Amino acid sequence: MDQHVSTDQLCIGMYIYIDLHWAKHPFLRQAFKIKDAAELKTLQGLGLDSIRFNPNKSDTKPLELSKPEPEQSSDELNASVEAAELDPLLAIKIEKIEQQKKRRKKAKACEQAFTEAIKCLSSLMSAQAPVEEAAAEAKQLIDDVCGSMVQADDLAIQLINIQGQSDGRYTHIMNVVVLSMMVGRRLDFSENEMHVLGLGSLYHDVGVTELPGQVSKKTTRFTDPEFAIYKRHTLLGASMAQKQGRLPNEALRVLAEHHENIDGSGYPRGLMGDQMSRYSKIVSLVNSYDNLTNNLRGGRELTPHEAVSILFSKDKGKYDATIMNIFVSILGVYPPGTFVTLSDNRLGIVSSVKSDQLLLPEVMIYDEAVPSDQALILDLKEEELSIKNTLKPTEITRAVKEYLSMGTAGYYFDA
Ligand SMILES: [Fe+2]
Repeated sequence: MDQHVSTDQLCIGMYIYIDLHWAKHPFLRQAFKIKDAAELKTLQGLGLDSIRFNPNKSDTKPLELSKPEPEQSSDELNASVEAAELDPLLAIKIEKIEQQKKRRKKAKACEQAFTEAIKCLSSLMSAQAPVEEAAAEAKQLIDDVCGSMVQADDLAIQLINIQGQSDGRYTHIMNVVVLSMMVGRRLDFSENEMHVLGLGSLYHDVGVTELPGQVSKKTTRFTDPEFAIYKRHTLLGASMAQKQGRLPNEALRVLAEHHENIDGSGYPRGLMGDQMSRYSKIVSLVNSYDNLTNNLRGGRELTPHEAVSILFSKDKGKYDATIMNIFVSILGVYPPGTFVTLSDNRLGIVSSVKSDQLLLPEVMIYDEAVPSDQALILDLKEEELSIKNTLKPTEITRAVKEYLSMGTAGYYFDA
């Protein structure tokens, strides 16, 4: 249970709470363990009569109360601490807030690029579109994706993951394009290879348009006969695109092979290992991930963390190990956009991952006391926090989603 002590009793190792408005102190957190003399001095300079602390979370007990020292009034002490410590700390806080604003701006640009690309997709996917025109548009879209989203790993992944139950097919296509190209970039693909991967991922499901409407438009789980029909979209798409002369052969293979797995468990042909092209191996993994997190046909929708866990454990044998490792190093174990509860019970969203600390990403914290455009981003390693559990978008209130959405709240309107 929390207790109150005089600020004179504070010492390094105590876990304290600052019961002041966010804008009235220079710290980036409302609660934390005092880590050094500088933090201690700044806390004592806040002008508080007492401060709340948690004995269970503290490494040490408060100091014994010392006698007042008449030679320096508390006002004088506050003034000197303010001058010496608060200004630089406030400057750091302001800098962090500015960084946050830039990040939000970048997130909006990223979202805009994504939305624009989705708008292009419907005309691009039309079989009626002249081949040359469609090819130029597809190239433009792939270049745009490379230029804006593939470079902004964490933001783009967050955007992809927080969409939850948003509209279906075109969003799914864009997710697969962006994530596939992120993998391609990490594999040092040449410009031409990126283009092939972009085309293959862009058109991977084009054969679905050739299926009967009761299958292609179905929003609930397939029956066995319906699934048998659905499987045909792979070869149908490849032969349709081949007849139209839309795609190079290597991209056509992605259309035919994106549901194959290297252990022979996929469809339509049950290919194994290097019978699949490396482009197909990438799109197969990415497509499975997006289908698990954003299930369009009434299956259990998983959090990004649950999806990565399944792909990396139970389904590991289905995917190429090098591609899988790259995919996990991009997404982390808790991919950006995953809603989480932390070990101290705070709620947040994973905002970025570091490849050397996959279990301890950076998390943006929901805190009503802090304006949303200044929301705290905590490095879990530095803060000695961990992730207790992950939450589905449907388990989060709209207010929390909007607070944590980095300007992408539009995606939640139908959730
Ligand atoms: Fe497919």
